[in-house]
Amino acid sequence: MHKGIESGGWTAERNAAEVVSSGLEDVYIEWTRLTHVDGDRGELTYSGYAVEDILGKGALAEEVMYLFLHGELPSAGELRRFRGYIEEGYEIPDQVVATIGLAPRSASVVALQMQGMSALSAFSPGGQRYDDPDSAARLIGQMVAITSVSLRHVMGKKSRLPLPSDSVSRSFLRAVFDVEPEEKKVDALNAALILYMDHEVPASTTAGLVAVSTLADLYSGVVAALAALKGPMHGGAVEEVIKQFRDIGDPSRVGEWFAENVLNKKKKLMGFGHRVYKTYDPRAKAFKALASSLDLSGGSAALFDVAKALEEVGIYALGQKGIYPNADYYSGLVYMGIGFPPSNDAYTGLFAMSRVTGWIAHFLEYVEEQHRLIRPRAVYVGPDRREFSPLFERRRVVAELPPLRSRMP
Ligand code: CMC
Repeated sequence: MHKGIESGGWTAERNAAEVVSSGLEDVYIEWTRLTHVDGDRGELTYSGYAVEDILGKGALAEEVMYLFLHGELPSAGELRRFRGYIEEGYEIPDQVVATIGLAPRSASVVALQMQGMSALSAFSPGGQRYDDPDSAARLIGQMVAITSVSLRHVMGKKSRLPLPSDSVSRSFLRAVFDVEPEEKKVDALNAALILYMDHEVPASTTAGLVAVSTLADLYSGVVAALAALKGPMHGGAVEEVIKQFRDIGDPSRVGEWFAENVLNKKKKLMGFGHRVYKTYDPRAKAFKALASSLDLSGGSAALFDVAKALEEVGIYALGQKGIYPNADYYSGLVYMGIGFPPSNDAYTGLFAMSRVTGWIAHFLEYVEEQHRLIRPRAVYVGPDRREFSPLFERRRVVAELPPLRSRMP
C-alpha cells in the first residue's frame, strides 16, 4: 500500500468532487455573438445567419470571414479592402517558408502549420493586436500561405505562395496545384471554408482561448488551437474517416465490418457522434451534397459508395443514442474530390485553414470584451501531507500507486 494512503485516507478537497465536470461537458466559458449550435435541432447559425442560407445564396468565404471579424456582412467596397488585407498576409517571410522546408516530407501538415505559425510569432515580437480586425485578416492570409507551402512540401513540390485573385479559394488552389482550377472545385473549396469556419468552443478553440487568456500573442493562440485540433477525436477524424472507408473497401462489406468493429466495441465509428449535436450535423448534410456535386470518379467514387452504405448502418444502430454523422464524415471525400492527397493530415490542415477565422474571432471577442485569465481547479485525491525523505535515507516503495479511478467518486 502507498505510504500516504496507508497513513491517512482522503483530503478534505475530495468533498468538492461533485464540481468536477468530466470533459467540461455543458460548461460555458464565454459569451459570444459569433456562432450558435442547436444540438437538438441540428442547426448552425453564424451571427444569426443559417449556414445553409449562407451557402445557398452563393456567399464567398471572405464575406463570412468579414462577418466573424466585424460583426456584419461587408459591402462590395469593404469586401475588396478586406481581401486586400488577407492578400497582404500571403507574403509570409522567406525564413518562415524555409522553416517548413526543413521538415521531412512525411510530416503532418498540421505540424507544419504549427511550425509556420510559431515562426511567425518569433518574427513578430510583440505579436498582434487584439483590437484590430485588419491585422486579423492578414493572419488569415498568412495561414492560407502556410497551408499552401505545407501541402506543397508534403506533395514534394517547390514552395509557392498564393497570389491575389477574385477569391481566397482560387488563389489557394492555383498556389497548391499550379494549374487553373475548375470552377466547381473553387466553389467546393469555398463552401468547405464556410462550413468549417467556426463552431462555438470545441477543444481547439478552447485551447486557443486558454493561451490568449494569458495575453499570449494571437499566433501562439493559433498554435495551441492547432495542437488540439490535430487529434482523431477532433479535426484528425477527417483523415481517420477516409482510412475507415478504405479499410472497408466495398459497400458489401459494411455490415460485417460494422458488427466486427463497432458493435464489438473495438472501434468507434469515425465521423459519427458529437458532444453537442444529438441529431444529424447540418454540416454533414452540406458536405455530402458537395461530394455529390463533384461527380467523384474512380477510387473516390467507390469510397463515397462505402460512406453512404456505412452511414445507413451507423444511423440504424447508433441513431437512437443520438449518434449521427458529424462534419468530418463527408468532408474528406470533398477534399479528395478537389484533388488534395489523403495523407499527412492534409485534410485536417485544410479544416484548420477554415477554422483559423473562428479561432481568431473568438480570441478578439474574448480578450477585448470579457477578458479574464482561464485558470480552473483540480480536486486533489493523492497522498496526505507527508515528510520528504532525502535520497540516501529513502527505502524503495514496492507497491504501485492505486489507479486514480479508484479514488474518484
Ligand atoms: N461510435 C461508436 N460509439 C460512439 C461514438 C462513435 N463514433 N461516439 C460516441 N459513442 C458512444 C461512446 O462509446 C459512449 O458509449 P457508452 O455510453 O456506452 O460508453 C457514448 O456514445 C458517449 O460517448 P462519449 O465519448 O462520452 O461522447 P463525447 O461527447 O465525449 O464524444 C466524440 C464526442 C466526437 C469525441 C465521439 O463521438 C467520437 O469519438 N466520435 C468519433 C470521432 C469523430 O468523429 N470526431 C469528430 C468530432 S466532430 C467534428 C470535429 O470536431 O472535428
